[in-house]
Amino acid sequence: MKSGLHDGVERVLFSKEEIEDRVRFLGKEISRDYEGKDLLLINILKGGVVFLANLMVSIDIHTSIDFMAISSYGPSTETTGAVKLIKDLEESIEGKDVLVVEDIIDTGLTLNYLMKNLKARQPASLKVCTLLDKAVRRLIDIPISYKGFDVPDVFVVGYGLDYDQKYRNLPYIGVLKQEVYLG
Ligand code: IMP
Ligand code: MG
Repeated sequence: MKSGLHDGVERVLFSKEEIEDRVRFLGKEISRDYEGKDLLLINILKGGVVFLANLMVSIDIHTSIDFMAISSYGPSTETTGAVKLIKDLEESIEGKDVLVVEDIIDTGLTLNYLMKNLKARQPASLKVCTLLDKAVRRLIDIPISYKGFDVPDVFVVGYGLDYDQKYRNLPYIGVLKQEVYLG
């Protein structure tokens, strides 16, 4: 039998409805906090795209978006700590109010690198919004201003998050079966 998209998922952590509710709430909070300002949302490809798309339509102040890509996990589920800038922003962020929109913060190594890089470009403000926080795995402290959900030390997929470039199109966030990455 052909294996389906949902077969690799052990259990659903957050349903589509739960995520949508939470994202709408975050959008309202952000709209209130940045009222009267022009907000720039910086999204980290590719895991954060589904979150960004849903978050931005829940924000009712002027916002623009820009994208960055940095190397993260390959086929393995363990981070190396080595991060590389693959795609840079299109515009200068100097003097702008910047909110980095991330899918998940795990060890924090990726975002730590990114924040240093962005801070050096002298934005007016620089904050972080992450859908998921896997705090038990954190190696470097990252101040998080907006957070969707806490997650335990499990490998999650869906709603933009992948394993080996797959599962990003699951409409919910689920725990990946160990047999998928242990082979
Ligand atoms: P960090 O540098 O360890 O914080 O890694 C952050 C990046 O690793 C995220 O932006 C994801 O791309 C990826 N990542 C970490 N944990 C997971 C997970 O459970 N599922 C999918 N990707 C993950
Ligand atoms: Mg990512």
